[in-house]
Amino acid sequence: MTSLKPMRSIGVTFFAAMLGLLFVAGFVTPASAQDEPAVGPKPPVPFRNTESHVGDITGHSADGKLPYRRYCAGCHGDYGDANGENAVWLDPKPRDFTIATFKCRSTLTGTLPTDQDLFNTIGRGLTNSNMPIWNTFSKQERADLVAYIKIFSPRWEKEKAGVPITVPAEPPVTLESISHGQALFAKLECWKCHGLHGEGDGPSASTLTDSKDNPIRPFNFAAAGNDSRFKCGSTNQDIYKIFMTGVDGTPMPSFADVIQPNDAWDLVHFLRTLQVHRKSRENDILMAAHGVIPPYVEKKTGSLAPAASANEKVPGGGQ
Ligand code: HEC
Ligand code: HEC
Repeated sequence: MTSLKPMRSIGVTFFAAMLGLLFVAGFVTPASAQDEPAVGPKPPVPFRNTESHVGDITGHSADGKLPYRRYCAGCHGDYGDANGENAVWLDPKPRDFTIATFKCRSTLTGTLPTDQDLFNTIGRGLTNSNMPIWNTFSKQERADLVAYIKIFSPRWEKEKAGVPITVPAEPPVTLESISHGQALFAKLECWKCHGLHGEGDGPSASTLTDSKDNPIRPFNFAAAGNDSRFKCGSTNQDIYKIFMTGVDGTPMPSFADVIQPNDAWDLVHFLRTLQVHRKSRENDILMAAHGVIPPYVEKKTGSLAPAASANEKVPGGGQ
């Protein structure tokens, strides 16, 4: 019986917090009554007009409303607060659009994603989660949904989206590049979370939680087959962006401040070899070397980053 008390107070606190949130968000103009189907005793979903721009398409929140309520609200909630009726069953939890923190961005950590980023994510879905691949919508519909998602957070009014990072051209995959990538994986302590073999079982793995205090597992590179992909894409360029921008809202940090652009490519090449079941140039090269990555020898040129990992040809002088 006493156990009812804390529950009720949590409910009250939650309700108060939600009211507070709506107030802070400045959602003061309720939509007209016929605009909103009744949602029980809840106040109507606050609405404002927002746009998205994807290529030459302009998305409109007014047009995104219906598909959102029909296809997205069941998980993301009518209020975009990740409290849809299915959310309780999901792990990881749906994204909470009221805080506007997104995992998949081309922009620096802490900034808002571009409309194109959100548009891509909706079409790609998030692998290893219940977020489906929404590739049946037209481009216009997807752009409208991007615009609608923005009604839930005032951040979209106050801030501009971040500037997409520049990804330099990919240098050739070589054994030396893979070897340097492995050294970076050790030096930057990626293994502490991802494990030495990238199986998501590093010493810190079991202790991690996301920004909403839900337990979260580091990505297991070795798990999937030849079709393996990441939440935020599947190309080498996508991997580069993932660790240079970070997976916001999770313990997966951005390494933009500590990795030089060309070193980052070496890391990408090494990460590919952790995907042991995937056919890739990186695994072909490793196979040709009988599966042995030679230890990385730092060049004594005064610079930490060896020039060989840049766009130039790998000099043969090292052997
Ligand atoms: C079956 C539940 C479910 C439905 C339906 C659903 N989502 Fe999601 N969505 C999720 C989950 C779960 C996540 C978080 C996945 C993660 O963190 O890996 C997510 C994340 C997202 C994200 C955040 C991506 C990022 O970079 O952080 C966006 C945007 C999104 N969903 C849009 C939509 C839209 C638009 C719809 C409707 C067309 C939709 N979702 C329908 C479950 C769902
Ligand atoms: C503090 C722990 C931690 C460290 C250190 C860490 N990661 Fe992660 N990483 C994570 C977690 C947790 C996820 C899963 C995020 C998710 O599922 O949303 C992840 C996911 C990833 C992903 C996949 C993201 C996707 O789109 O699916 C890549 C790639 C990655 N990490 C690379 C790296 C690299 C490279 C380093 C080192 C330079 C590194 N990580 C260091 C915790 C960490």
